[in-house]
Amino acid sequence: MSEPHTSPPPGTQAPSGSGPLRLQAEVLESERVAANHRRLLLRAPQIVTTAQPGQFLHIWCHPPEEIDRPPSAALLRRPYSISRLRPPDGVEILLRVRGNGGRLLAAKAAGESLDIIGPLGHGFRISPGLSLAVIVAGGIGLAPVSFLVERLGGLGVRVILLAGAETDEKIPFRVERPQAGGATLPEMEALGAEVTFVSESVEGVRITEVVQARLDELPGEGAAMFAVGPRAMLKRLAEIARGGLPLQVSLEERMACGLGACRSCVVPARSADGASYKTVCRDGPVFDASEIDWERLTP
Ligand SMILES: Cc1cc2nc3c(=O)[nH]c(=O)nc-3n(C[C@H](O)[C@H](O)[C@H](O)COP(=O)(O)OP(=O)(O)OC[C@H]3O[C@@H](n4cnc5c(N)ncnc54)[C@H](O)[C@@H]3O)c2cc1C
Ligand code: FES
Repeated sequence: MSEPHTSPPPGTQAPSGSGPLRLQAEVLESERVAANHRRLLLRAPQIVTTAQPGQFLHIWCHPPEEIDRPPSAALLRRPYSISRLRPPDGVEILLRVRGNGGRLLAAKAAGESLDIIGPLGHGFRISPGLSLAVIVAGGIGLAPVSFLVERLGGLGVRVILLAGAETDEKIPFRVERPQAGGATLPEMEALGAEVTFVSESVEGVRITEVVQARLDELPGEGAAMFAVGPRAMLKRLAEIARGGLPLQVSLEERMACGLGACRSCVVPARSADGASYKTVCRDGPVFDASEIDWERLTP
């Protein structure tokens, strides 16, 4: 693999020191994993050694050699969560094809290269006393969950995964219904998680309703909740968890630099004067739910 570049991409500053790197990562595998979803395995050994669950890559969707030519579409890099590490040198992302950037990435074949910056942002914080992690994920929010489940499992933490989507096709994993009323995600079970999956179109409930129903049976001590998914889901969880389990949420926002410089990705934060903001790319994407001003956060 080529060495990290030193020149900054247009509109960004060059990452330096032991933080994020800019590098060219070879696509090792690319496969369709569900309707409209794709898994890319990239060769990026430098990222394998430093990445934390919840961090992301900022990806230039065009060929690396076209970085100085203004493209007609997907002018900016696109952020994608690190979905899983495949040591010694593989990094996986799971993408839902939404627009031009996603389409360009989905069309990449093994052997091509991507210009990436990462690992970026602050990931999930795992406190030393944690014994039970309740991960709540909605839709494409499942993308970073494998990495988190593996990390928690490696630390001996019991993991309950409560996942949901509008339909089975809205997640990048295979759904199984071994018996009536109970759906699961075999790939997540294989990683050691106790899984409940609900699809609004089949089970007819939202994942936040499942969380609310299960909360009372969970031990309070040594437990914490980690959530990734649509804002409406995160907002509801912040209400449900208030005063109970500590909750960390991973937020998404449209990004430009990805490095904390342009402030295009700010979200309202709680403060005494009500006027404070935090950047999703640098302060987040993972925040304590108590840091966010949910009233002022746009849907
Ligand atoms: C920290 C972070 C991690 C992310 N991780 C993943 C991931 O692992 N897998 C994945 O598939 N996507 C992820 N996303 C979202 C992903 O970055 C966007 O889907 C992508 O940038 C869309 O680019 P595009 O050119 O394909 O679509 P565009 O043409 O830019 O947009 C297509 C449609 O998607 C909507 N959209 C674009 N970006 C977002 C966003 N950030 N949040 C909500 N709606 C959006 C647009 O409003 C538009 O309707 C993440 C975003 C952030 C901020
Ligand atoms: S994208 Fe520039 S500050 Fe976050």
